[in-house]
Amino acid sequence: MNSVCVVVLVMLGASGHSFRFKDLTDYVDKHQDHYVQALRDWVSIESDSSDVSKRAELQRMMGVVEEKLRGMKGKVDVMDIGTQTLADGSVVPLPKVVTAAFGDDENKHTVCVYGHMDVQPARREDGWATDPYNLTEINGNLYGRGASDNKAPVLAWIHAVEAYKALNVELPVNVKFLIEGMEETGSDGLNALVEAQREEFFSDVGSIIISDCSWQSSRPALTYGTRGNCYFSAQVEGPRQDLHSGVDGGAVIEPMSDLIAILNTLISASGQILIPGVTDAVANFTEEERKIYEEVDFDLDTYKSTIGVDGLMYNNKVDLLAHLWRFPTVSIHGIEGAFSGPGTKTVIPAKVTAKFSIRQVPDMEPAVVEKQVTDHLHAVFQQRKSPNKLKVKMIIRAKPWLADPKHALYEAGKRAVKRVFSVEPELIREGGTIPIARTFQDVTKKDIIMLPIGGFDDGLHSQNEKISRYNYIEGTKLFIAYLHEHIGSQANNIRSSSRALTGS
Ligand SMILES: *[C@@H]1O[C@H](CO)[C@@H](O)[C@H](O)[C@H]1NC(C)=O
Ligand SMILES: *[C@@H]1O[C@H](CO)[C@@H](O)[C@H](O)[C@H]1NC(C)=O
Ligand SMILES: [Zn+2]
Repeated sequence: MNSVCVVVLVMLGASGHSFRFKDLTDYVDKHQDHYVQALRDWVSIESDSSDVSKRAELQRMMGVVEEKLRGMKGKVDVMDIGTQTLADGSVVPLPKVVTAAFGDDENKHTVCVYGHMDVQPARREDGWATDPYNLTEINGNLYGRGASDNKAPVLAWIHAVEAYKALNVELPVNVKFLIEGMEETGSDGLNALVEAQREEFFSDVGSIIISDCSWQSSRPALTYGTRGNCYFSAQVEGPRQDLHSGVDGGAVIEPMSDLIAILNTLISASGQILIPGVTDAVANFTEEERKIYEEVDFDLDTYKSTIGVDGLMYNNKVDLLAHLWRFPTVSIHGIEGAFSGPGTKTVIPAKVTAKFSIRQVPDMEPAVVEKQVTDHLHAVFQQRKSPNKLKVKMIIRAKPWLADPKHALYEAGKRAVKRVFSVEPELIREGGTIPIARTFQDVTKKDIIMLPIGGFDDGLHSQNEKISRYNYIEGTKLFIAYLHEHIGSQANNIRSSSRALTGS
């Protein structure tokens, strides 16, 4: 509605560097059915990385991305990341990583857009209302596996670059793409690739953009933190065989009873972590952070009814969000070896392995947490004077990632959101873990922004995953705006105008 006056202001503000935003967004609006069809084509490919029998489909998906980027005249490079050894010892090739570069003007900042083409498993009989691999539009929502995670966001980035090119609008920054195919199963092979490409692909990259998460409400958001994760197994082993009626609980301490006793010393009923020292390194919750949390649209009652509970551990928005996003927590995921079928078998399992994880936040260190947890479990186990054996192992060590929401990248994100949606974005964090963000940060030392376009109710990883047509199309406009607002493009404008002033 007020796009006319926005355009006028921009033209005045940029003194000659007119940004043809209206032309670009008109182009997007005109092509939206074409964009939806492209998403339909991509969703129809079952690029499930967890199921090796679908590996050919995943390879085909990577090939489709490659062809798309080549068709746009990008400088495309397909990188081999080796093989994967399966549980049965067989070896299969990992899907190749596809990279592309648009523009190599050394006077311009270069952004790298990260995305992934693989999806979580999905079968109609899991409870999908539609065929998960046949993108179906119902009431403005596009249902399909991978629609929101991460196919539409990757397409939106591609379409953003395509729009600039179609209208002959110079790209304000050089744009690189790095698209992988193993994200949903832990980005096998990607860490090594990032290390190996630090001085190559990444050498001219100024910042990295990840659009692999969602908004928190109906308001657009910028994500500035994700939690890490330390995932443990704790195994208790008793007498050699399963204890049947002859040797029952009356004679020995049952492994299951040991295991449950020690698991019960991890977290209190009120959510307090009981492992000594684990929370010592957690950064203090500042007044400034509190203010950010207060701005977030989040209704406790809606949340309660969405997840189907009567009560929550925290009864105000700020504390609840803080415990979802920026404090650690312990979750117990399962017990291997325990009797879990229906019926009333009196088996007494001889070896049981619990799996639990501790979400990591700044400034926790996985190596320190590993020692604290191991020491704690052995100490409480020892107090039981059990003859059984305890083994504790840390299986996953993913560090948290945190950005400064006042960093220039985020200021650019705020301007882009305002330009497209006429609102201030929410500044949010993500309670889950996106390990690649921390790898990018540690290995490349580049600044990172997470710029989501998925809706809060997109159901990533679950049945009936969707993205709305609105988020997909307006998200494409957001990416167009972001390329213009990006700090590098601003710096470039300033540089070129100062050159003009000094006449050099
Ligand atoms: C996808 O669903 C639509 C609508 O139900 C149907 O007409 C079409 O044949 C389906 N396509 C495929 C490839 O199954
Ligand atoms: C948090 O603040 C308290 C005092 O207010 C201080 O003693 C403590 O060291 C701080 N913790 C961290 C992790 O900075
Ligand atoms: Zn994803």
